[in-house]
Amino acid sequence: MNDPKRYLITSALPYANGPKHIGHLAGAYLPADIYVRYLRAQKRDVVYVCGSDEHGAAITIQAMKENTTPREIVDKYHAMLKSNMADLGISFDIYHRTSEPIHHETAQEFFTVLNNNGDLEQKETEQYYDEEANTFLADRYIVGTCPVCGNDNAYGDQCEKCGTSLSPEQLINPRSTLSGNAPVKRSTTHWYLPLNKHEDFLRQWILEDHKDDWKANVVGQCKGWIEAGLQPRAVTRDLDWGVSLPGDVAGGRGKVLYVWFDAPIGYISATKQWAIDNDKDWKLYWQDKETKLVHFIGKDNIVFHCIIFPVMLKLYGDILPDNVPSNEFMNLEGDKMSTSRGWSIEMDDYIKDFVKKENGGNQLVDALRYYLTNIAPETKDSEFTWKGFQEAVNSDIVGKFGNFVNRSFVLMHKLCGGKVPAFHEAIRDADDEQMLAAVAAAKKAVEDSIEGYKFRDALFEVIMLSDAANKYMQKKEPWIVAKRTTDNGQPTREAQQLIDNCIHICLQVTANLAIFINPFLPFAAKKMCHMMKVVDKMLDWENAGKTNLLSVGYSLRPPELLFRKIDDTEVAEQVEKLKQKSEALKQASKEKKMEEKTQVSAASPAEVEKAKPEIQFDDFAKIDLKVGTIVAAEKVEKADKLLKLQVDLGFETRTIVSGIALHFEPSTIVGKQVTVVTNLAPRKMRGIESNGMILMAEDADGKLQFVNPDEAVHNGSGVS
Ligand code: MF3
Ligand code: ZN
Repeated sequence: MNDPKRYLITSALPYANGPKHIGHLAGAYLPADIYVRYLRAQKRDVVYVCGSDEHGAAITIQAMKENTTPREIVDKYHAMLKSNMADLGISFDIYHRTSEPIHHETAQEFFTVLNNNGDLEQKETEQYYDEEANTFLADRYIVGTCPVCGNDNAYGDQCEKCGTSLSPEQLINPRSTLSGNAPVKRSTTHWYLPLNKHEDFLRQWILEDHKDDWKANVVGQCKGWIEAGLQPRAVTRDLDWGVSLPGDVAGGRGKVLYVWFDAPIGYISATKQWAIDNDKDWKLYWQDKETKLVHFIGKDNIVFHCIIFPVMLKLYGDILPDNVPSNEFMNLEGDKMSTSRGWSIEMDDYIKDFVKKENGGNQLVDALRYYLTNIAPETKDSEFTWKGFQEAVNSDIVGKFGNFVNRSFVLMHKLCGGKVPAFHEAIRDADDEQMLAAVAAAKKAVEDSIEGYKFRDALFEVIMLSDAANKYMQKKEPWIVAKRTTDNGQPTREAQQLIDNCIHICLQVTANLAIFINPFLPFAAKKMCHMMKVVDKMLDWENAGKTNLLSVGYSLRPPELLFRKIDDTEVAEQVEKLKQKSEALKQASKEKKMEEKTQVSAASPAEVEKAKPEIQFDDFAKIDLKVGTIVAAEKVEKADKLLKLQVDLGFETRTIVSGIALHFEPSTIVGKQVTVVTNLAPRKMRGIESNGMILMAEDADGKLQFVNPDEAVHNGSGVS
């Protein structure tokens, strides 16, 4: 859409279930921010909305993990994400949240309109239900064996090992993550969006109308979906966390909107809130055909933004996105980025380690923005390395851009009295012409690239312009020309004119560089304005390409450092930190697995009877069994099945961690005698070293009893 009346720009709403990493930043936030800053510089009517996605299993599962409520989770991570984004210069007009009442109302109203118009279908189906937890199970709450690769811990929606997308019915031996039990099927009624009815529309709209202006990866993915045949998609769930169905919908009690139904409506509710705060009309942004709507997302969100949400928008009568620029993934030091595996750089950590640590840390925000744009995964997956970060920063923005700006200022102070020198037309030469032509060409190239969502190319143009400017200065070498002096030691008149022209042009180029770099590295642009003693208005795009931005005779400030180098120790530290973080998580997950193994679970009668293979006496004799007395017992924090016990073995008192917390109150077992395997190799559980194992008898119902002598014996007595 050319020359729209207004723009509405969105970035995918991040789940407020944990910190987000720089891959997210590079995918959906930074490119959108660059685009928006560019549009603002052009004085366009633009609104940039985002917010936290606070519903869905992503949130409730995190709440279980952290042993707290979904509410606390979203409050905690919403605050973190909001401040991280602000610290990294992501300039949302509003960063909203989907737990706000205005969002719930907006999403419910949306559902009601579609439902009343007969655009949704109601269907009764059988779904997995956990009888112990008394709840239907969201796909993510069911795990089982992957039918494709045999992974024992595949989720009901996807196997993370082989990447196959699954439905819970496909899992072999499904179990509920809530109780560990096998779920049963129960019937339930849900509302469906019949995507199949909109296939013709989607084919026309995506595969015809947008086949050339949308990115190939986006069109390709959509094509795959459409060709595979679209199915009705459930838009409601049996859950208690989310946007409840409107009260007047028959049969809607206890049900919520599917998170992918409500979350994109979050763009609309955020716009509404922004309009209230700024006395604007939100409807213009969602319903006027002259609004250009652009969704910036990561590639895992394509189907939702290109197929499901557009169908919803069309049914409701809203405008459709003009484009959905979606990035591929950014890997890290040779592996996939993943917060859960610890192989990631969280925005929050980067801010702590670089930005907040030093005065003027904002230049390190720009440094990150530079490298992430430089390696943006626009057309294929890319890779972040700390070495690459260092090289890009040191060679491009310090070595080229910063260096040119700095030299221009230093020379202006040294050779032109700290003022913008005159330009002497009479001696204008081909190099001057060429330099000025390069500015005009860069302007055009930057515009074309940004408008085509090629931010990496656009930024490259800016750096190349600074490189060309360095070369221009190098060729003119005003510091050498200054040596052509008269008797009083001052440069000759001709020499001074040559110097003036060179510095004049360098300064006008500098002003242009500030305008060009502003969408990408806003902090540097601001600092340049300060050095040039101009107001931020100079950065308006209408000034781009002008060669009279700084008036002759105007005195400028001394140069300030725009960017600093990244040194080897910083690189080494970060690489080390990354390794340690992922190692620690690996260790923790190993411990957790062991812990699960020691947890005595209800054995089926068949298992009770099943005997283990025969062993020799020597095997048995290796086991050192002793009687001891439990002298203290307490729960292990955040591990609902573990107790930490102190057991007096006569010759010493040992710490033993045992998976019996669900069976015994700690206070009731103090004083009991127990049999202990004392020579079992120590192992850590939840950070506590366990030195032995307590023998338990377990009956078919899963009831546990200690194995101990009929009458009390001395602690430390052997058992054989
Ligand atoms: N929370 C989703 C994710 O992180 C993205 C939601 S985008 C929206 O993958 F459109 F639904 F808001
Ligand atoms: Zn699999």
